[in-house]
Amino acid sequence: MKKNFVLAGILLALSAGILLGCSSQASPWSEAEVGLMRSLWIGSLPELPPDPSNQYGDDPRAAALGEKIFFDTRFSVNGEVACGTCHLPEKDFQDGLPLAQGVGATDRRTMPIAGTAYSPWLFWDGRKDSQWSQALGPLESPVEHGGTRTQYVKLIQAHYKDEYEALFNELPDFSDESRFPVPAAPVSDALALSNWEAMSAEDREAVTLVYANMGKAIAAFERTILPNESRFDLYVEAVLANDISAARDIFTPDEEAGLKLFLNDANCTRCHNGPLLTDNDFHNTGVPAVAGLPEDTGRARGAQQVLTDEFNCLSQYSDASPEDCNELRFMLAEGEELERAFKTPSLRDVAERAPFMHAGQFWTLEEVLNHYHFAPAAPGGHSELEMLHLNRSQQAQIIAFLKTLSAIQ
Ligand code: HEC
Ligand code: HEC
Repeated sequence: MKKNFVLAGILLALSAGILLGCSSQASPWSEAEVGLMRSLWIGSLPELPPDPSNQYGDDPRAAALGEKIFFDTRFSVNGEVACGTCHLPEKDFQDGLPLAQGVGATDRRTMPIAGTAYSPWLFWDGRKDSQWSQALGPLESPVEHGGTRTQYVKLIQAHYKDEYEALFNELPDFSDESRFPVPAAPVSDALALSNWEAMSAEDREAVTLVYANMGKAIAAFERTILPNESRFDLYVEAVLANDISAARDIFTPDEEAGLKLFLNDANCTRCHNGPLLTDNDFHNTGVPAVAGLPEDTGRARGAQQVLTDEFNCLSQYSDASPEDCNELRFMLAEGEELERAFKTPSLRDVAERAPFMHAGQFWTLEEVLNHYHFAPAAPGGHSELEMLHLNRSQQAQIIAFLKTLSAIQ
């Protein structure tokens, strides 16, 4: 009798153990959460949308030429700065500095490039509406490449004539210094501007056409830079396959708990959503201003700039028809909410690229989470954030989750 009891007890304990074992492998995710996770998964990234403003965007020859220009330091006033000086491939196309350094010091942090072909707006303030028009900004910025377009088209003529002409138009002869002086561009520098204004309208247009095409080649290269699969994506795949034990081999309990907070209580997906974990929109999140830098109004100024940009979607250098430019035509151009609003960055690979925010205000993810926790008042405009009631260990769990968004090497 006694023996039987013991046996029954053991059996009971065993079956309870099996049941418990089973229930610990039951999915911790509701259907709604699984849907949300699927939307963040890299497998949900749609095919790269065409850029109607750049008819060369998907031409591999344009990408090959663009890649060379991207890394060619001759395209700068001192021969030392290329796009790749600040956008280093081995650093996620970023530089790890709070404020980028070109021929001078800039006011903002370098942004990563992977997946920006999906973004309707470029730069922290979205003052550009395509990758090709974006590329033309730093080339003539006095603190980045510091050169002007007459210098650049001469370099194309000297070093990339065949590749250029195989793709675009026949190059005019830019060698006559009196017709094509260096520096010359519609920029703030007085000498460059007066040289530019002294050129004939026809010559200015010929130079600008080649300059715009350089941007289109660079953009074709950038379109090939895409995010890679992360441990988070593997986790979602296991959850979608309903294989919770495989999922738990991929994530630690803290990472899983961090994901749960990210989706729910911390509501990070209000802005960091979709497979790139950005809504491609602009928000004021009360990030502090940096002492010593000029006032930065973010999207408020960027929206005005993109409307009048020389190379925007509606410009003569764009290949798009006006109906392809609806983002620009119907964008929100004014409003209180644009004041100190900055572009939501993608969170893919985020843990690999401190410092954070538009001027590198935070060095660690702990500081970032601390900011989200306290949601301080914005130095200008109004922060959209509210204080999060997350304790230290919950904040650490969210950080653990953010680290799973890094590409698998
Ligand atoms: C001096 C360093 C520096 C150089 C050189 C530089 N960039 Fe940048 N890049 C930055 C900074 C800083 C930002 C953000 C600037 C801002 O928002 O005002 C940025 C932003 C970008 C973005 C926007 C990404 C996004 O998500 O909106 C792209 C794309 C880009 N750069 C490509 C290029 C290309 C192409 C070149 C070469 C033609 C180039 N950069 C040269 C520092 C640099
Ligand atoms: C209201 C929209 C919004 C919400 C909600 C939001 N973010 Fe952000 N996030 C942004 C914007 C905008 C920036 C860039 C702000 C800036 O540079 O001024 C940003 C920046 C970041 C950065 C720095 C990325 C980089 O490359 O510099 C991290 C990390 C981050 N957010 C994580 C989170 C987490 C975690 C949550 C939830 C606790 C969250 N965000 C909630 C909009 C949001």
